Amino acid sequence: MDMTVYLPRILRVGGGARHELGKVLADLGLCRPFLVIDAFLLGQGHGAALESSLAEQGLPLRQFSGVVPDPTTESIDAGLVELRGGDHDCVIALGGGSAIDTAKFMAVMANRSGKLRDYKVPVTIDDGLSVIAIPSTAGTGSEATRAAVATDSETEEKMLCMGLGLMPVAALVDYELSVTMPYRLTADAGIDSLCHALEAFVSRKANPFTDPIALACMSSIVKYLPVACEQPDNLEARAAMMHAATQGGIAFSNASVTLIHGMSRPIGAHFHVPHGLSNAMLLPEITAWSIDGARSRYAEAARAMGYAKLEDNDGAAADKLVAGLRALCSALKVPGPAEFGIAQTQWQSLLPLMAEQALASGSPANNPRIPDKGEIIALYERVWAA
Ligand SMILES: [Fe+2]
Repeated sequence: MDMTVYLPRILRVGGGARHELGKVLADLGLCRPFLVIDAFLLGQGHGAALESSLAEQGLPLRQFSGVVPDPTTESIDAGLVELRGGDHDCVIALGGGSAIDTAKFMAVMANRSGKLRDYKVPVTIDDGLSVIAIPSTAGTGSEATRAAVATDSETEEKMLCMGLGLMPVAALVDYELSVTMPYRLTADAGIDSLCHALEAFVSRKANPFTDPIALACMSSIVKYLPVACEQPDNLEARAAMMHAATQGGIAFSNASVTLIHGMSRPIGAHFHVPHGLSNAMLLPEITAWSIDGARSRYAEAARAMGYAKLEDNDGAAADKLVAGLRALCSALKVPGPAEFGIAQTQWQSLLPLMAEQALASGSPANNPRIPDKGEIIALYERVWAA
């Protein structure tokens, strides 16, 4: 067998796709929905709009809006109390990756006992209530993955959970929801997507299904991310970025992420750096170090992104990739760890633990060049100095 591919059963992509929710629920035979929505979208009236459109179909909608950025088990448990207070057959997630991951965890824990940590990787979670994801940010791609991440409120560990129960049964990918994203969120979420695609493409688990999806995603992001940042109302750029984010999710969900995401999670857990931003801090340096493991793959990525010409040999193309990624991060004003406000002494003292946590996640083992603990520490030091 060459590969196994997991996807949502329904993907509706395009402006106004969110208005298809009632039809999608009917198509899936679901009739007792519960909404998880982030507070920002609730304040913009999107929750009320969904509620009134479903009411026309005779479907009442209970909801939870206590989503926190980078979900914690505490916030998920609060949502579970609400969810278990009714009789529901599906959870609708409306918001960014944090809202979608919160909804996924609530859906799989609804009928389970124990703590979420009992179900972290390498355990798999293969069933739960159906999830319908409506992403509002072009970034995590969580609407098309069978993964979710949460921080354990008791231990501060950032846990990765995997399994078919976490794969949304349907995703309504509507770029109109993304036009209100501010500059920093647009940039960081977009670089997160770029990392998903690049890591999936160079992963040891890359395959012929995910390769063209990853290449198309990278090509779109390099072209449209700066436009979406500078011109938030540019609908062509917003539509392209939203589409690319879902492509990135499909690519990494079926080929895995690698060293960037492995090293990124500890930065997020210890220093509360938003997920996309910690990836962005790592992207150029980790790519530069990894190239020796898969030079021709990195060269192909560079050509897809337009950083290298078709006639450039692999060595020249890979070098141009690193230069291009450095220029992109600089243009998008990505701060380094020091500029973000992290104290060097704290960074330095946590590096051994961070390296152990990165290795324990399993993601570095998918990298084309596999580091040991000492090399990961050296890479964190290089990222600090960059
Ligand atoms: Fe990510």
